[in-house]
Amino acid sequence: MAVAKRIEYSINNASLIRKMFEEGLKRKAEIGEENVFDFSLGNPNLEPPAGFKEVLKDLINDPAPGRHGYMPNAGYDSTRQAVADFLSRNNNAIFSAGDIIMTVGAGGGLNVILRTLLDPGDEVIIPSPYFMEYNFYLENHQGTPRIIPTKKDFSLDLNGIEGAISEKTRAVLINSPNNPSGRVYTREELLDLTRILEKCSCRFGHTIYLISDEPYRKLTYDGITVPGIFDICRESIMATSFSKDLSLPGERIGYVAVNPEITAKHTVISGLILSNRILGFVNAPALMQRAIPYLLDSSVDISFYQKNRDMLCDALADLGYEFSRPQGAFYLFPETPVKDDIEFVTMLKDENILTVPGSAFGRPGHFRIAYCTSPAVIERSLPGFERAMKKAKG
Ligand SMILES: Cc1ncc(COP(=O)(O)O)c(C=O)c1O
Repeated sequence: MAVAKRIEYSINNASLIRKMFEEGLKRKAEIGEENVFDFSLGNPNLEPPAGFKEVLKDLINDPAPGRHGYMPNAGYDSTRQAVADFLSRNNNAIFSAGDIIMTVGAGGGLNVILRTLLDPGDEVIIPSPYFMEYNFYLENHQGTPRIIPTKKDFSLDLNGIEGAISEKTRAVLINSPNNPSGRVYTREELLDLTRILEKCSCRFGHTIYLISDEPYRKLTYDGITVPGIFDICRESIMATSFSKDLSLPGERIGYVAVNPEITAKHTVISGLILSNRILGFVNAPALMQRAIPYLLDSSVDISFYQKNRDMLCDALADLGYEFSRPQGAFYLFPETPVKDDIEFVTMLKDENILTVPGSAFGRPGHFRIAYCTSPAVIERSLPGFERAMKKAKG
């Protein structure tokens, strides 16, 4: 055997999203890029805001020595302070630089959190549908996912979550706005969830944390804002990144913010910083850390995604597709008109439309359309969506 059994298994069961993306590349080579409607990956199609390149130019020309060297594992103090100030402005909580750890994207941040919190066999409750990479992240740190389906409208099933909590539960991991459903959890839902976590923490004699994965926080529509977790849940830790709101996924820059009021604060933060180091991240990319203080209040043009959402939702509703209108992120997650989501995604593929089955997010009977594409791709794909629906309805 060339590699570890666990990795061999994972290679063979590689993500359906990547599989779809790779098949798309093949199909594009065969029939031309313009004839394939690729909604498979959440790779933002907008360029970063104009100011980003200007900031980089200035930073690159900065003659000060040592700009590319090692730094404290949590990141530059100046960057952490800027992030803390940004969070203090936008939350009902006061942050200091010490509450922030700069990370290699949200994915890096989540791994740092899980490495810090989990002992082997500890469980993390995850409402589904969910970003399936979480399974790998948990496995990295010997944690076990407990998947609890959300309700039909993708709101949290609080009874289901409470019923799943046991002495093994270490955390609940939520993602809002949600990939793939586009759902934003309400303040009421989060308050109720927190009450459950507090009650169960008392019952089982250890803290059950709320981990909030928020890379889509700025991407909301119709004036909706994402409730902050910090004045709701004391035992909370957020992971986020600039991958989606600044269109910088390849630059791998994000951060973890610890609730300033969290119990055992010193130990939690020391653990996060150590984990950032020993997972081999060492620190988040230096150049990006120096850029971030200038970009915290910027974002790509969110109205671009809202227009895409509206065009897609209006057209698909007319064609008979059923879905909850996304409140944020850039995904639509309709029900499949046939029971088997993989069968329907294959029907769409026959129309050169690439989507991802709901099974890839722990929610069969649905499929995900990533609408971070050009509007022309959406428009030209609609006849294919119509034919696939007709075929499905027989
Ligand atoms: C819900 C969710 N969490 C985390 C990530 C990872 O983000 P990053 O690229 O910043 O690591 C993604 C990326 O698509 C995501 O959708």
